[in-house]
Amino acid sequence: MVFPANPFKPTAGVMPPVLIGRESISLDFREGLEDGPGAPDRLMLITGPRGCGKTVMLTELGLIAKKRHWDVIDETASDGLCDRLIARIAPKPGLVSGATIKPTFMGASLGEISIAPALRPASLRDAIAAHLHTLGKGRGLLITIDETQDASLEDMTAISTAAQHLLRENAEVAFVFAGLPSLISDLLNAKVLTFLRRASIKELGDVPLDEVRTALASTIRGAGVSIDEDVLESATRATGGYPYMIQLVGYGIWRHARRRDDGNDHAIRAEDVKIGVEQARAKLGAGVCAPVVKRLSKRCVEYLMAMAQDDGPSSTSDIANRMGENMNYANGYRQRLLDEHVITSSSWGKVDFAIPFLREYLRAEYPNGNDEGASA
Ligand SMILES: Nc1ncnc2c1ncn2[C@@H]1O[C@H](COP(=O)(O)OP(=O)(O)OP(=O)(O)O)[C@@H](O)[C@H]1O
Ligand SMILES: [Mg+2]
Repeated sequence: MVFPANPFKPTAGVMPPVLIGRESISLDFREGLEDGPGAPDRLMLITGPRGCGKTVMLTELGLIAKKRHWDVIDETASDGLCDRLIARIAPKPGLVSGATIKPTFMGASLGEISIAPALRPASLRDAIAAHLHTLGKGRGLLITIDETQDASLEDMTAISTAAQHLLRENAEVAFVFAGLPSLISDLLNAKVLTFLRRASIKELGDVPLDEVRTALASTIRGAGVSIDEDVLESATRATGGYPYMIQLVGYGIWRHARRRDDGNDHAIRAEDVKIGVEQARAKLGAGVCAPVVKRLSKRCVEYLMAMAQDDGPSSTSDIANRMGENMNYANGYRQRLLDEHVITSSSWGKVDFAIPFLREYLRAEYPNGNDEGASA
């Protein structure tokens, strides 16, 4: 018998074999749909660092809505977000009030529209109302927006205004926004978006290791591959409960076991975990950490190196000392790193890594500090 196909999915936005540790969010959302207009979880804001499972969570909530025969529109924030939403939601995009059809080239992009910013809130609201009209009783429309931190203030204002009106009118709609954690402070500081304060905010953190162990065991053993308890335990620990790492570790150990397998006893052994985890770490470093570090200036990397000396949040004055800079200069780098979503400012005077395993990556990649003096 051939070794079973690898069930793990270490790919951004791809559903894992088991969605670990997110039942309560699914339950809240399901109840929000059941409870009808006015239920708080019909307006949800999902935040968390890269690779924590935001996109996958949007997919999961979309599936829940579809099971109840709702229509689901998924969009990702970038230029033209609101116009794209309107074009997709309106039953007849050509008839959207205030819209001009963008010239199309060589038959590409049918129905691309452009709407004057001032008209967008009303157009979006009209489009949603018209769409709801085409749906039968009890059915509704879920709109999900991914990468919300990249949305323009104009687009967010239009969407919020439309959403606010529709929710107030008890329309059968739900909105779920997902984005990086910095989104909350950015959004909630913008006056026009006060309505999002009322959103049900779900912060996606690490998954408890107990649940990781159970899920790994059922995925592996359920596919007909055996794994001893102590081997399972070391694989579980290596994930740190970070969702992307769970998939990388699962994938890596499975792949090594399959290549080693002589075709008779399908098992994942300690050696598979040792090598699979090494490969997972390298992949995480190359795929997530390296591109982030590469984009940064040398001094910003030095700021991060100084942070990596701590095992938890760092004090900004310690960092300045370690860099041999005054607080003003150090704060410049701090701000740039905050803007790039590389670090977070968890409490006054403290900074921490916003990207899981970045600390470990920096320690492994620059064991002697970043050239001169970063680790002094
Ligand atoms: N709850 C979970 N349990 C197990 N694996 C998960 C879970 N959530 C996400 N994953 C896996 O983690 C990886 C990242 O998921 P996803 O792309 O949804 O993260 P994200 O938060 O959207 O990241 P980004 O900010 O980079 O867009 C995928 O391989 C996915 O299968
Ligand atoms: Mg995503």
